[in-house]
Amino acid sequence: MSYVIACMKGVVLAGGTGSRLRPLTYTMPKQMIPVGGIPVLEHAIGDMRDAGISEIAIVLGEHGHDDIKGYFGDGSEFSVDITYVYQGEPLGLGHAVGCAEKFVDGEPFVLFLGDDLIQRGITDLVEGFDPSTHAGSIAVKPVNDPSRYGIVNLDDDGDIVGMVEKPNEPPSNLAGIGVFVLTADVFDEIAEVGASWRGEVELSDAIHRLLTRGERFQSHIVDGWWYDVGTPTDVIAANRSVLDDITESEAAPLDVDGTIQGRIAAGSEVIVQDGATVRGPVSLGPGVEIHDGATVGPYTTLEADSTVEDGTVQSSVVLEGATVRTEGRILDSLVGRGATIDVTATGDALKLVVGTDSQVTL
Ligand code: G1P
Repeated sequence: MSYVIACMKGVVLAGGTGSRLRPLTYTMPKQMIPVGGIPVLEHAIGDMRDAGISEIAIVLGEHGHDDIKGYFGDGSEFSVDITYVYQGEPLGLGHAVGCAEKFVDGEPFVLFLGDDLIQRGITDLVEGFDPSTHAGSIAVKPVNDPSRYGIVNLDDDGDIVGMVEKPNEPPSNLAGIGVFVLTADVFDEIAEVGASWRGEVELSDAIHRLLTRGERFQSHIVDGWWYDVGTPTDVIAANRSVLDDITESEAAPLDVDGTIQGRIAAGSEVIVQDGATVRGPVSLGPGVEIHDGATVGPYTTLEADSTVEDGTVQSSVVLEGATVRTEGRILDSLVGRGATIDVTATGDALKLVVGTDSQVTL
């Protein structure tokens, strides 16, 4: 049975410092880094829309406001209605959620951590939530390293009876993976919890307080892959997984002189010159150019207006307007907006993380 609540709202958190993705995050929010051709945050917005949620608040942190607002605007291009809420100082997830209290206006809502990416969307979670019996539902998944996450423990009915953030002695290996259905009761608890040992107002602590008060939370075990995109390795791995889900039917009809193998998603005005090779799965943004002698892919995203002039770019994400020229191979790399990579040295494949507008000559 499904219990969809009419007009459930959505809250997406897009703050955080992104410190593990520096230098890229000195100039852009981590949620705008593309995986599979679109920003991480757009995956969350799309999952909300697909689950029937059209009124969405994006909670902005200290940085990246123009980037996010410039891209998503009022949401109409994405068939949703977007409101922006300002968190300012990063005082923790609980604090960020608390900033959306007015927007939520007393109703149950879906919370999506904007740097999380899940393969199969959130429709099952949202439709499976039963507000007549539960005060919330949490998407969970077994993890190998539970001390890095918010960990839940369950009773015999599969309901959540406790939640603890980054525990030294995890009560289970089931992590909350960044998508929740919550009721407005959570705001009272957020107001009560103090800062944790890491100095943050933890959402997990607020949820734990609701559970201790006797509220019931459903656990929704998620199949398929999931990423918390926090490091360059996460970006590369998430990009691979998203690209792997490109189906043949998505392959854009390309008018190209070069060689295209496998599954490709491509925007308009892509140029693949005679003598260039694209090996899918690959995502090519509008205006991408791949020149004679260059090979791109597999598992590579080239964002809009980026160019590969020579050499091989494989298992990498190249951001808007960047240029890569190499005698050899660029592998598992993250190249910032407008950066120029110029490699005449040959040898092993290079693995790079290059910030916005940087110039690398080797
Ligand atoms: C946050 C949450 C944690 C959750 C994780 C999922 O952790 O605090 O409960 O398990 O996201 O990605 P953070 O990414 O802030 O370390």
